[in-house]
Amino acid sequence: MTSVRSFYSRWAALYDRIATAPGVGRWRRAAARRVASPGATVVEMGCGTGANLPYLREVVGEEGRVTGVDLTRPLLEVARGRIDGYGNVEVVVGDATDPPIREADAVLATFVCGLFSDPAAVVDLWCDRLGPGGRIGLLDATASERACGRPLTPAFRAFVAAGSPALGPADVLRAPFGAVDDELSRRIDTARSALVDRTVDRRYETFGLGFVGLLTGTVADGYHE
Ligand SMILES: C[S@@+](CC[C@H](N)C(=O)[O-])C[C@H]1O[C@@H](n2cnc3c(N)ncnc32)[C@H](O)[C@@H]1O
Repeated sequence: MTSVRSFYSRWAALYDRIATAPGVGRWRRAAARRVASPGATVVEMGCGTGANLPYLREVVGEEGRVTGVDLTRPLLEVARGRIDGYGNVEVVVGDATDPPIREADAVLATFVCGLFSDPAAVVDLWCDRLGPGGRIGLLDATASERACGRPLTPAFRAFVAAGSPALGPADVLRAPFGAVDDELSRRIDTARSALVDRTVDRRYETFGLGFVGLLTGTVADGYHE
């Protein structure tokens, strides 16, 4: 957790540029629209620099409430600048694996589940906190299975290595020739499986040549097959 915090603290400004790069807003708006609704209370886990917060606010409107939770203070400082002027949007320092929020109508986590050592347990906890009827959405990047995306796998691997708190420059150079994204994919698959186990009304859609997937659902009344 300390390495995650120090990694993102060091790269806060650069991370914000990547998080708000042209085209990325379309994925974020789609994620916000799938989980949030007018008047809802939404929690964004691992909100980083708050790139999703304006989209969530757009959907919940003046009657709703949006809270972003993140471990990394320098990222939250950028987020605070982004939400300045919205009375019903706030960010708080907290651990998404044990969030300081007890009640919400919806949870969104974008590009976060790959950082958890036990993503299934975390998604399960979020579903427990939401309760039946709560909306949950996970937006994550994994290697593309689409023909148009496959040639870009080496570049994707280098991007994954560069964004991994535990890896260094030599790993980034080696990454295109290895399977550095395997652990990331395993964690994301695990998080998505947990969401599938707990939800109904699911929808899965992809963006960015198939590298980015958005899985959303409504927490069911108990477990189901
Ligand atoms: C790749 S960034 C994604 C940020 C943001 N969700 C976005 O889409 O731009 C991962 C974020 O997760 C945060 N994070 C990682 N582990 C966390 C945890 N256990 N609790 C809260 N935040 C966490 C990091 O501080 C960082 O802001």
